[in-house]
Amino acid sequence: MTDDSLSSHAHELDLAPAPAFAAQANGTAEMYDAAAADHEGFWAQQARERITWATDFERTLDWDDAPFAKWFVGGQLNVAYNCVDRHVEAGNGDRVAIHFEGEGGDTRTITYADLQREVCKTANALTELGVGTGDTVAIYMPMIPETVFTMLACARLGAPHSVIFGGFSAEALHTRIDDAQCKVVVTTDGQFRRGKPSPLKPAVDEALQYPNPVQKVLVVRRTETDVDWHEGRDVWWHDVVDRQADTHEAQPHDSEHPLFILYTSGTTGKPKGIFHTSGGYLTQAAYTNSVVHDLHPETDVYWCTADVGWVTGHSYIVYGPLANGATQVMYEGTPDTPHQGRWWELIEKYKVSILYTAPTAIRTFMKWGDDIPAKFDLSSVRVLGSVGEPINPEAWLWYRKHIGGNTAPIVDTWWQTETGGIMISPLPGVTTLEPGSAQRPIPGISAEILDDEGMPFTEAEKVGYLVLTKPWPAMLRGIWGDPERYKDTYWTRFGPKYYFAGDGAKYDEKGNIWLLGRVDDVMNVSGHRLSTAEIESALVSHPAVAEAAVVGASDETTGQAVCAFVILRGDATDEGDATVQALRNHVAHEIGPIAKPRSIMIVPELPKTRSGKIMRRLLKDVAEGRDIGDATTLADSSVMSLIAKGMPGGG
Ligand code: WT7
Repeated sequence: MTDDSLSSHAHELDLAPAPAFAAQANGTAEMYDAAAADHEGFWAQQARERITWATDFERTLDWDDAPFAKWFVGGQLNVAYNCVDRHVEAGNGDRVAIHFEGEGGDTRTITYADLQREVCKTANALTELGVGTGDTVAIYMPMIPETVFTMLACARLGAPHSVIFGGFSAEALHTRIDDAQCKVVVTTDGQFRRGKPSPLKPAVDEALQYPNPVQKVLVVRRTETDVDWHEGRDVWWHDVVDRQADTHEAQPHDSEHPLFILYTSGTTGKPKGIFHTSGGYLTQAAYTNSVVHDLHPETDVYWCTADVGWVTGHSYIVYGPLANGATQVMYEGTPDTPHQGRWWELIEKYKVSILYTAPTAIRTFMKWGDDIPAKFDLSSVRVLGSVGEPINPEAWLWYRKHIGGNTAPIVDTWWQTETGGIMISPLPGVTTLEPGSAQRPIPGISAEILDDEGMPFTEAEKVGYLVLTKPWPAMLRGIWGDPERYKDTYWTRFGPKYYFAGDGAKYDEKGNIWLLGRVDDVMNVSGHRLSTAEIESALVSHPAVAEAAVVGASDETTGQAVCAFVILRGDATDEGDATVQALRNHVAHEIGPIAKPRSIMIVPELPKTRSGKIMRRLLKDVAEGRDIGDATTLADSSVMSLIAKGMPGGG
C-alpha cells in the first residue's frame, strides 16, 4: 500500500469517538484541563480515589532533591492489599481475577478470593524462607499464575522483586541476581513452549555456580521434567507453599518503599536496574489502565499479551488491572500453538473485550492471513491497544479492521520501563484517532520535542528529541545502586529540567506526536529493548572475535533486527556458516535467544572515524541494503568497499 492510498483509506474511516462509546468512557476531555490547571492536585486526586491508603499522604510531590522524586510523601499503603484483599472486602471475592490458559489447553480460574489465599500462602512461605521487608527476590518464571502470586507476595512483604524474563540466559540471570543481591530465587522446572517442555531451572543452577548471595531456590513443578537438586538450597513449591496458612496480615509500607527492580538495556554493556516504588507507581498504573484501556472491571474481560518479564507485564497484567479489580486472561504459550488462530480462539472463548498487544505480533498475524481471525467470533472486542514500538499505519488499519470490527478504538501507547506507566496515548472515547501516532500526553503528563540545541519547537514535520517536562508518579526513582548513572542517562543531555527519553519524535500538522524510534545505541527488536554495546561485548567475549560492531537494521516483522559485523582474531579461521552459527549461539548463551543476531558478517575491517569511533550509520546502510552514505569522515575510505563486497550481491 502506498502512502497515498493509506491516507485516503484513513480518510474514509470515521476516527472520531463514537457517541455511545464516549458516553461510557472513563477518560474525559475535562481531565486534560484539570491536570493542566493543577498538576499535583490532579495526581493527588487520582491517588486518593484509586488507592486505599493505610495512612494518607501529607505532600503530593517532593522534588526538592531533583531528579530524585518522592510522591505522596508520608503516605502508607500495602500494594498487594490494594490489588487483592480490598476487592474481597468489597464483596467481589467471587469475581474472576485470572482466566489462566496453559499452552497445552490446561486451564485455571482464579477468583479474587482464591488470589487472596494464594498470595497469603506464598507470603507465608517466603517469610519462612527468610525473606523480610527490604530483601530482594529474583523471579525467573514463565506465564503461570504462581508468577503473579509471587510478585504480589513480595509486594505484600515489602520485598522488592526482580523479574528476569525467561528468555534470558544463565549468564544474564547471574549478573542480575548479583547486582540486586537477591536472597531467594523463585523458578519452575520448565515451561511449555511450542508444544513441548522447555527447561528453566538448569539456567538457575548454572547461574548459581558463580559466587552469589542466594540462600534458597523455590521451584514450582510445571512441566514435570527432571531437575538437578541442591539439598539445603532448593525447595519445592508444593512442599513449602501448599502447607502454609492462607491468611496473612498485610503491613503498610511507605509510599516510597521500593516495589521492584527491572533490568533494561542502555547504551553501555551493563544493563540498568530500573527501580520503582509503591504509591506513585500503583496510582499511575491503575489510572492509566482505567482511562487508556477504558477498563470497566464489572463487565470487561481484559487481556494483555505481554510477558510478565517485561514492564508491560508488571504494569498491565499485575499491578494496574489487579488494583482496578479487573478480570483478565493470562496465556502461557506462543500465538501459533497448536494453531495460528490460538489468540482469536481465546478471545472468542473468554469474550475478551480489551486486547493490549504489540505491533510485531500484529504484523505477524497480517502475514499469516486475514482468513485466520475471520474464523472466530471477535465481536466482544471493544478496545485495542498497542505498545512497544511505533505501529505503522498499515498494521494499525489491519488491527482495526480484522480484530476491532472497524469500530474499536486503538490506543497506541508510548512509554518505557523507566516511565512505569503509559505517558503518551489517545484516550478512547475522547480523542479523534490518527493511525500510526501516539498523539498526545495523557492528562497529568507533559512532554515537548527539542531541537539539537535543546530548544522546544512545535513546527510540523521537523524531527527532534522527545523529553518529559514534569515529574510523574510512576517515574523511575533511579538505577539500582548507581545514582550517578541515573542523572547522566536521563537528566543531563538537555539539562536537569528535561527527562531525556532517548526517542526521536515529530509533530504533524494537527499537533499529534509521532514517535520515530531510538536516537541512541538501543535497538528495538519485537518490542524488546537490546543494547548494541551489550551484544558487541558478548561477541568479543568469544575467543575467535577481535572486534565487533552491531546495528539494528529495519525488519518487516520485528521492527528492527540485530545485524553484527565481526573481525576475527588473526589465529582464528573463518569457517563460514559454522563460525557464524557458533557466534550466534554464543550471544544466545551470554544474553539470551532474544539477542541472537539475525545476520553476522565476517569482515576484514570496520569503518571508523579518525578518532576511532565505529560509524554504525554506514553499517546500517549495508545491513539495510542501501547505497552507502557519506563516508568522507572515515579514517580509511577503502573499508566500506571491502565490506560491501562481502554482502550478498555485492562486489
Ligand atoms: C522504548 C521503551 C513500553 C513498554 C514496552 C517497551 C519504544 C514503546 C512505543 C510506542 C513508539 C514505542 C520507545 C521507548 N516504544 N512504546 N507506542 N510508539 N515507540 O518498554 O523496553 O522500556 O522500551 O520502546 O523507543 O523508548 P522498553
